Amino acid sequence: MTAMTPRSWLFIPGDSDKKLGKADGSTADALILDLEDSVAPENKPMARDKVRDHLAARPREGRKPLLYVRINPLDETALDDLAGIMAGAPDGIMIPKTTCADDVRILSLWLDAFEATHGIEKGSTRIIPVATETAAGTLKLMEFADVPLPRMIALTWGAEDLSAAIGAGTNLDPATGEWALVYKLARVQVLLAAKAAGCAAIDTLYVDFRDEPGLRQSSSRAADEGFAGRIAIHPAQVDPINEAFAPSAEAVEHAKKVIAAFDANPGAGTVGLGGKMIDIPHLKQARNVLALHDAIASRG
Ligand code: COA
Ligand code: MG
Repeated sequence: MTAMTPRSWLFIPGDSDKKLGKADGSTADALILDLEDSVAPENKPMARDKVRDHLAARPREGRKPLLYVRINPLDETALDDLAGIMAGAPDGIMIPKTTCADDVRILSLWLDAFEATHGIEKGSTRIIPVATETAAGTLKLMEFADVPLPRMIALTWGAEDLSAAIGAGTNLDPATGEWALVYKLARVQVLLAAKAAGCAAIDTLYVDFRDEPGLRQSSSRAADEGFAGRIAIHPAQVDPINEAFAPSAEAVEHAKKVIAAFDANPGAGTVGLGGKMIDIPHLKQARNVLALHDAIASRG
């Protein structure tokens, strides 16, 4: 697989043999084997063993889907989780409930040690923080752009834990059914912080997993806004997400036309196309679209 950022990230509870049994057949770009909120406290040690065995039976080379693990927060059992699973060499770690960018720096140092212990290439285990699950973490999102965090592949966000953290009865605006203001703010700040930090932004889950049209619509909007992918909680959400975050045939055609228009006018900073002005930002975006299209095509 190329270095394309995963579009679909499907959660699988780490204590469920039945759901882990569906992992290999998934068309998700990445799976997140969960040790946090989908696993009851008494099942966590057992889930660590299952997740490690699942990873170890699927060596990193040629892994498809990629296998990430969501550990527990740094101030809970993160270190025990890593000690339990790193022998399996996950492709990356999702760290929930971050309170600041320094949490990711610390996790990175821990991963240095575990990689050395288990003979895993240094720096190869990626990190995706869930960066809006605490009030402090949400207020400090811009720190991610200030600290070099080379392992960080993407930032994502969650609305459920943030509402619990601030004592809100709902995270939706009752008038529109859309995210309430606090969550809209958190979401756009994740997008901006991710881009400022030079990584991808991954949108949060769509709770109503039987509502495919709603998932498709909101995912297409997220893709247009600049998100590179989305979390899935149910297998039925994976293909709609993969499709929404891949450039459409029309977008690819348009990108080719933009590039052709600039190629036909060497040295021009702005040209006309279909009666509209296009300039350098359009050219950059056209190249982004084609690069993503090629990365998805070569993924096989
Ligand atoms: N990964 C793998 N397989 C899954 C799955 C998942 N996330 N979610 C459902 N399945 C399987 C089910 O086991 C079921 O298998 P079966 O047909 O052999 O019985 C099939 O897909 C259909 O599932 P369905 O009956 O529609 O859903 P459910 O009621 O069994 O489960 C959830 C609903 C939400 C509990 C389940 O989708 C789930 O566990 N999601 C992940 C939750 C999670 O990890 N949350 C943490 C992050 S917020
Ligand atoms: Mg949670």
